[in-house]
Amino acid sequence: MSEAKRATYDELLRLALERGFFFPSAEIYNDAPAGFWEYGPTGLLMRNNFIRQWRRDIVRRDDMLEIDGSLILPKIVFEASGHLSSLVDPIVQCTRCGTRIRADKYISEKTGLQVDERLSSEEFQELISKYNLHCPKCGGDFGKPSKFNMMFRVGVGAEDADSYLRPETAQSIFVDFTRLSKTMRLKLPEGIAQVGKSFRNEIAPRQALIRLRELTQAEVEVFFNPNVDLDPSKFDQVKDVRMNVLVQAAGEDFRTVNAGDSAKEFGGKQIIAYYFALLQQFYENCGFPQERTRFRELSAKDRAFYAASAFDFEVDTSLGWLELVACNYRTDYDLATHSKHSKKDFHVMDGDRGKVLPHVVELSLGVDRSIFALLDLFFIHEANRDVLRLLPNIAPYLAAVFPLVSKPELESKAATLYETLKREEFSTFYDDSGAIGRRYRRMDEIGTPFCITIDHQTAEVDSATLRERDSMAQSRVKLSEIPEKLRVLRDNQKQ
Ligand code: GLY
Repeated sequence: MSEAKRATYDELLRLALERGFFFPSAEIYNDAPAGFWEYGPTGLLMRNNFIRQWRRDIVRRDDMLEIDGSLILPKIVFEASGHLSSLVDPIVQCTRCGTRIRADKYISEKTGLQVDERLSSEEFQELISKYNLHCPKCGGDFGKPSKFNMMFRVGVGAEDADSYLRPETAQSIFVDFTRLSKTMRLKLPEGIAQVGKSFRNEIAPRQALIRLRELTQAEVEVFFNPNVDLDPSKFDQVKDVRMNVLVQAAGEDFRTVNAGDSAKEFGGKQIIAYYFALLQQFYENCGFPQERTRFRELSAKDRAFYAASAFDFEVDTSLGWLELVACNYRTDYDLATHSKHSKKDFHVMDGDRGKVLPHVVELSLGVDRSIFALLDLFFIHEANRDVLRLLPNIAPYLAAVFPLVSKPELESKAATLYETLKREEFSTFYDDSGAIGRRYRRMDEIGTPFCITIDHQTAEVDSATLRERDSMAQSRVKLSEIPEKLRVLRDNQKQ
């Protein structure tokens, strides 16, 4: 293979903008706020493939339920969940130019100190005075530090009732739990999943899909009896899955463990190790190399307010280790608090073990970040081309069809093949213009694993040239055999 080099962040962004992966919302207007990005056709196909794989490897594999809840929820939900009081960032505002910035990040940046975001306003004030810090834009004085809630408020109806865009998809799963437990014959342990948009009014959105104000989450909340661990036969199915784990006590060294030996790393619970192993397998099936992933334990100060323990599933990107999934042990925090505020009983029967208030382990996937990380890992410069080496199950298109010359007979054969492949549910691209080399390059850049060229010989012998993206090897295949050949090539690739 020719010498290959990974692309930089700027090159990735150029690919995304020029090839229809993603781009800023309302970009024709200069003052559109940052942190909102849209998926174009190629990015959306890729995201759909990623979510399809998630459904296959996690939701369906574990017979989970999936719901689709409201994006807007009433204030009481977030009073109960704690998001109104705790989903806050510390900020300071310049009294002269009005600039608002994150207090903890700015103090850290200026002093080199590790600053806990949960300090009180008085403690932030003391640090600002002690180090004589001023507005980075105009040098003005800061006003009193305050807490900024990251939820978007929405006024519902003519009465402008206080509601919020959800900051995580998880809350409707908790709020709906009593109905689902009664109507869906729920049996512990039971996973409930949801994929969709969530909203966070980030003070400093940045790096395209990495820190967004409107984000796509794929979340799973697994409800289980805290007094009963997983059925050993179920745990056995994943015992050989390899995972890198960075635990607090081990400092910065991570160790590689088999899921079967990992329960002690994850708070002594095999059920947690089991779901982490499913997550690991899913990401490997999307192409993430195991050695570039890890579960990093979070300290008490870095965990979300509802988590008793937490691990970030991270991947090693060109920007450093990037969190893709928040894995939280939420205990009975959410069910207990919604039970208290709604005065409804959230206990369920666990067979002959009696009634229990389930505990929850959560896998909260950042879909947009995962898409970004896939592009980061697989967009490669080779000596004569740029190529996106996505697995066929993730690539926007599985195949492209190119009629080489514009002759009615060849165009008709190409169009027929294109229709056949679409009927077989292969995502296929049709391109009949420009030099063939340029058509290949374009498909290489958007990761299309197989290109089929209809040429002069096709008219004579009813075969076409099949070119594989990674090796660029070409072979002749009979038109009638192309669908089956594509199926074999796709299914033989790791997924
Ligand atoms: N549900 C956890 C999170 O949004 O991070």
